[in-house]
Amino acid sequence: MSDRSARGEREDASGPVIRSFVEERWQWTVAAQQIVPDERAVIGETLLAWCDDLHLNLILTTGGTGFAPRDVTPEATRDVIEREAPGLAEAMRADSLQKTPHAMLSRAVCGLRGPTLIVNLPGSPKAVRENLETIAPALPHAIDLLREAPGSEAGHGRVA
Ligand code: MTE
Repeated sequence: MSDRSARGEREDASGPVIRSFVEERWQWTVAAQQIVPDERAVIGETLLAWCDDLHLNLILTTGGTGFAPRDVTPEATRDVIEREAPGLAEAMRADSLQKTPHAMLSRAVCGLRGPTLIVNLPGSPKAVRENLETIAPALPHAIDLLREAPGSEAGHGRVA
């Protein structure tokens, strides 16, 4: 989420970081990628379409989680999710605080809509990488559970 990138004034450096992370770590398919302006309604409509029309397993957003007046990604995410997944956001902030005190300025929200997990990541490529590393050990099992994959309960005791 970025007004400037959506206007073509700044190259999107963080989207490609997300793409290569999920492709290289898990060989997952990236079915959609979009630069969205910091507009609550537009972000909400995009998330809704990706959940209800594309039925994605996972949506990773980047940017718009801070304190600037136009940072509304968490609000748009809350408009769409049915259940919060606070543990992911708590883990990201806790880990990130070991790296920068500015981590407490991220208002990132994580939550579920049907079988889709939505995760807000901060905007910078560095923050994206660091936060993805934090949640990476739990993501495959999270998605297994959402898809009610046979045998997914078996992974509960596993340490990644
Ligand atoms: N988390 C990690 N791991 N590393 C970072 O560099 N940057 C922080 C924070 N979280 C950062 C981080 C900063 S500077 C801000 S302002 C908030 O995320 C919100 O970022 P956003 O407004 O780009 O979403």
